[in-house]
Amino acid sequence: MCGIVGYVGPRDCSDVLVSALTKLEYRGYDSAGIAVFENNEIKTVKTQGRLKDLEDKLKKVGKPEGHVGIGHTRWATHGEPSDVNSHPHSGARVTIVHNGIIENYIELKEFLVAQGRTFLSETDTEVVAQLLDYKYNGNPLETIDSVLAELKGSFALGIMFKDFPDKVFAVRRESPLIVGVADGESFIASDVPAILQYTRDYYLLDHDEIATLSSDGVSFVDEHLQPIEKELKTADWDMEAAEKGGYPHFMIKEINEQPTAIKTTIMPRIRNGLPCLEECGITLEKLREFKNITIVACGTAMHTGMVGKYVIEDLARIPVTVDIASEYRYRNPIVSEGDLVIIISQSGETADSLAAMRLAKQKGATTLAIVNAKGSSIAREADMLIYTLAGPEIAVASTKAYITQLSVVYLFAFELALAKDCVSEAECRRLVSALTKMPEAVQYVIDNCEEKCKYIATKLVTADSLLYIGRGLDYALSMEGSLKLKEVSYIHSESYAAGELKHGTISLIEDGMPVISVATQTDVIPKTISNIVEVKSRGAKIILVCTDACARGLKDGVADYVIEIPHSEELLMPITAVVPLQILAYYTAINRGNDPDKPRNLAKSVTVE
Ligand code: M6R
Repeated sequence: MCGIVGYVGPRDCSDVLVSALTKLEYRGYDSAGIAVFENNEIKTVKTQGRLKDLEDKLKKVGKPEGHVGIGHTRWATHGEPSDVNSHPHSGARVTIVHNGIIENYIELKEFLVAQGRTFLSETDTEVVAQLLDYKYNGNPLETIDSVLAELKGSFALGIMFKDFPDKVFAVRRESPLIVGVADGESFIASDVPAILQYTRDYYLLDHDEIATLSSDGVSFVDEHLQPIEKELKTADWDMEAAEKGGYPHFMIKEINEQPTAIKTTIMPRIRNGLPCLEECGITLEKLREFKNITIVACGTAMHTGMVGKYVIEDLARIPVTVDIASEYRYRNPIVSEGDLVIIISQSGETADSLAAMRLAKQKGATTLAIVNAKGSSIAREADMLIYTLAGPEIAVASTKAYITQLSVVYLFAFELALAKDCVSEAECRRLVSALTKMPEAVQYVIDNCEEKCKYIATKLVTADSLLYIGRGLDYALSMEGSLKLKEVSYIHSESYAAGELKHGTISLIEDGMPVISVATQTDVIPKTISNIVEVKSRGAKIILVCTDACARGLKDGVADYVIEIPHSEELLMPITAVVPLQILAYYTAINRGNDPDKPRNLAKSVTVE
């Protein structure tokens, strides 16, 4: 995710900006840049690549000399990583850096083009820079305010106006931004670590509040441009804690980042209410050609594939096989020209997934990679590529990568169903609209289920073994819930299709054994409840994750603990239902004294067989 910094003060501004940006490197980025006032002119230096590349460029072209400036690390969303798409972006009298997504940038761009404006980059950010320039009336605060009224989406902006060479302005809506203060100097930053080497004192900017940084200090106005006083906060984190944004572990931080990660991933791929994957090399014409689909992946990514199978088969009526990459690559799989093989991978470097993809290509299949790590091997070698824009996932246990993989698979399935004439355009729009509501739904689940999951986790600490059960999509999701729990808590756990229990596994049930049951799919809920009753009557302790609608119809005593999640479009329920399973796994690990970020014996990226 992009990182923003800004500085006003006596130090060498270029040095401060680059140094502050290094503290935001953990957010992930593919390019970097700064803009600094030098002799009342804004001088911008930016480049694709790492901060080291920016430093080399600054040496080559000459570091801007000044005391007021803004800087940025970019994680590409709109337009590929390139020098020209890097931030800062400018209009004639304005230069900005931006984190987030401007959802209505296409219509704003069309408007500005109609006014004779031209654009250098493919970014949504340049649209904001041009709009600020277009609306500029000599008063920065009024100008920013009138642009805010036009913008839809999430964003944090650092802004410099050419006519105000002693000032930096900052504003945010949903994306993070803080304002740091020290004696005679001030800062803006996406996160606290960027300023910790200079100050521990900072203000949290609220939605649509505008900050003005100058040599006189910092001032704030609200959305009506009325001056406001804000509470000064003091960071008491060390650097490591600060990088975790105040969370005790990356795993729980990343669980909390999921609403933003979903939004960042899906919004650039939706145009006029329909999926648009053209930038990823996927067109309706191309999709019509595929007769068979195989999804190949490992671990959590393979579980995304399991959900994908249910969704694609249901919506697009194409047979989908899901294969474990390490099996696929040695099995002489039946695959040929005209088939689509989808490889899902967070790291893009998993050895088995990479080998499986190469094999599929060799056999003539078209390959589509769904990958999080930019420029990774799988991303580079696939015929078509959709990046999940989850940002860096540090915890070994995958959470936000999984949820963004699901989001991409849904968009892909909707587009495929449309291409195959299996859904009407109106139905496709309805599904896309339901998907856009998922960030909010996930946030609701995080806000409302964490305490309950925390409590239930105290009941799991002493378990030797447990089962996850569900039917249909709930079964696909149970696989992920079970993996999450076992990898961080070290408690043995298995997932089963609920209807399969009676064929052997039910013999494992003994007094007090926890069974985590997922029931979100209305048509099979009565069947799942029967399976729950069967295991309960044999002594199992039932933890039921179900929709609020299902919970209302439950008979007393069916479940020992119920975690209710809001009912939404049923096909999309895995996106919300996975959240309590992740939180349950996290707190069980904590209760057992494990470090959930670094589970024993596991590596984040499995680059060997
Ligand atoms: O990087 P990948 O998505 O290809 O990794 C595949 C698996 O190793 C990975 O999903 C693993 O199962 C998760 N870290 C588990 O949380």
